[in-house]
Amino acid sequence: MKGLILAGGSGSRLYPLTQVVSKNLLPVYDKPMIYYPLSTLMLAGIRDILLITRPEEQVLFKRLLGDGRQLGISLTYAIQEQPRGLADAFIVGADFIAGDVCALILGDNIFYGDGLISLLAESRRQLGQTATGGARIFSYTVRDPSRYGVVELDAQDRPVSIEEKPRAPRSRNAVTGLYFYDQRVSDIARRVQPSARGELEITSINQAYLDLGALSVTRLGRGYAWFDTGTHESLIQAGSFLQAVEERQGLKVACLEEIAWRQGFITREQLQAICRSLPKNSYGSYLAEILDGG
Ligand code: TTP
Repeated sequence: MKGLILAGGSGSRLYPLTQVVSKNLLPVYDKPMIYYPLSTLMLAGIRDILLITRPEEQVLFKRLLGDGRQLGISLTYAIQEQPRGLADAFIVGADFIAGDVCALILGDNIFYGDGLISLLAESRRQLGQTATGGARIFSYTVRDPSRYGVVELDAQDRPVSIEEKPRAPRSRNAVTGLYFYDQRVSDIARRVQPSARGELEITSINQAYLDLGALSVTRLGRGYAWFDTGTHESLIQAGSFLQAVEERQGLKVACLEEIAWRQGFITREQLQAICRSLPKNSYGSYLAEILDGG
């Protein structure tokens, strides 16, 4: 399975924070925002990842993450010239996907909760490797569904309808920024027409799969935290949440080097070498503790 991270966009809601730097590079507590979605793909066992950015910022993402070798993954880069919408990821990334199954995560989405690794593994397994495995989206109960794509479910959690930012939502199940698709997704994306706000909507792709009877939904229960950090309020809420969890447990969320090691992407010796190269700050000493069996 290939992974895509969509980390362009205009970030207009966060202006002036986003005047000179991408939203996806802003700090969320102790790490750049992009670490969190990247960690989610790594926890899903995905090692071949395309990072889609605005043209002017590709150099910054490359400086931060390089080709991914240090994390035992392969990172390649693509440019989205204009923020044409989320579904554009599959057009920009069509050559990279090259007929494989794929996962898309938005660069401002944070997922956290016990059991996330097995939930992702199970969702991957159900999607399979075939051309017609369908699409799987992840829903989360929110107070303000009108801000999101909203999916209505029947008693067996099968999707009945899906709507983008509805004025009168039929449920409180927001569609989160993580999506798994079969090999048809780039072809479907090319057929999507821009919405009234001029964007290629991911909801149109999900609607196409729903029409084919090929959309399924994994519900993230109340034991999970999901943030999209696109507003000032959600940015600080996510930061406060992560600070509380990390401080309480003495364990970091989305520490990429730790995840790479625990997932078996890099060896203990490689992690030791990374440790030696890091600044002597809390991040470096955390990794040293992890190596000592913490
Ligand atoms: P959004 O939060 O929907 O859009 P945005 O980042 O442009 O912000 P705003 O609405 O405040 O103007 O985007 C979600 C994520 O997807 C975010 O990480 C940016 C990314 N994105 C792209 O890379 N390309 C796009 O065309 C769009 C719409 C978003």
